[in-house]
Amino acid sequence: MSEVFKNGRAASSGRLKGFYVFDSPEELFRTAARVMIELCYAEVARKGYFTVALSGGSTPLGLYAMLASDEFRERVAWKDIHFFWGDERCVGPDDERSNYGAALRALLSKANIPAGNIRRMRGEAPPKEAAEEYERGIREFFREMGAHGPSFDLVFLGLGEDGHTLSLFPGSGALTERERLVVESRSGKDGPARLTMTLPLINNSGVCAFLVSGHAKARILRAVMGDGSGRYPAGRVSPRSGNLVWFVDRGAASTLEGDGGTEG
Ligand code: 6PG
Repeated sequence: MSEVFKNGRAASSGRLKGFYVFDSPEELFRTAARVMIELCYAEVARKGYFTVALSGGSTPLGLYAMLASDEFRERVAWKDIHFFWGDERCVGPDDERSNYGAALRALLSKANIPAGNIRRMRGEAPPKEAAEEYERGIREFFREMGAHGPSFDLVFLGLGEDGHTLSLFPGSGALTERERLVVESRSGKDGPARLTMTLPLINNSGVCAFLVSGHAKARILRAVMGDGSGRYPAGRVSPRSGNLVWFVDRGAASTLEGDGGTEG
């Protein structure tokens, strides 16, 4: 894996892509943490900072706990990492459903991260206003950093049992957005309002990394991996960088075993 990041994203030959199956969720999260750290060091060496968009849901909590553990916490250049969120529920930061709140409890409160490096979506604000504000913040950040455009070094993604990722749900208008970078979304007709990065932003990233764990995801993972129609939002994640990686555990890959999944 370290070969991939000899020069970070600059290495056109360096590719982090593929499908990695791990014996346990712990091994999945350990590798995801190592990949994030390797990519971070490569990008900080190349341009002086690293940007990551965190996913919501419960799966990434295992990664956050790993990064906050004694095994990793002191190995991370926290001051050089800028944290963003790929999506958020339209609730306050103290609400138990808040993706920011979950990451704060699991990681951000346990590592020495400068407060200015943490940029949450304001779920407590009116959704349209919060989405527009977050998009402005993303554009301003990358402009101030001298980047060519909004392009995250690493975006973590989960997989919902209906094939959604972040808050891009099947059939939602957010899924077909081509201009805006952050929009309001809903899970189903009358589901709770959410905020989500859109595919134009996600697919402009250096690396998109799916984290999928547990037998409950086996059916949808097989469906997504075998579908070329784009019916599943997760299947539309296709970064122009070519760096799309799936970190899955044996439970999630249980219906794929023997299909040539790559050992992690
Ligand atoms: C969210 C996530 C969402 C999540 C999937 C999988 O805010 O809920 O962004 O897309 O990744 O629903 O959730 P689990 O990891 O909890 O299975």
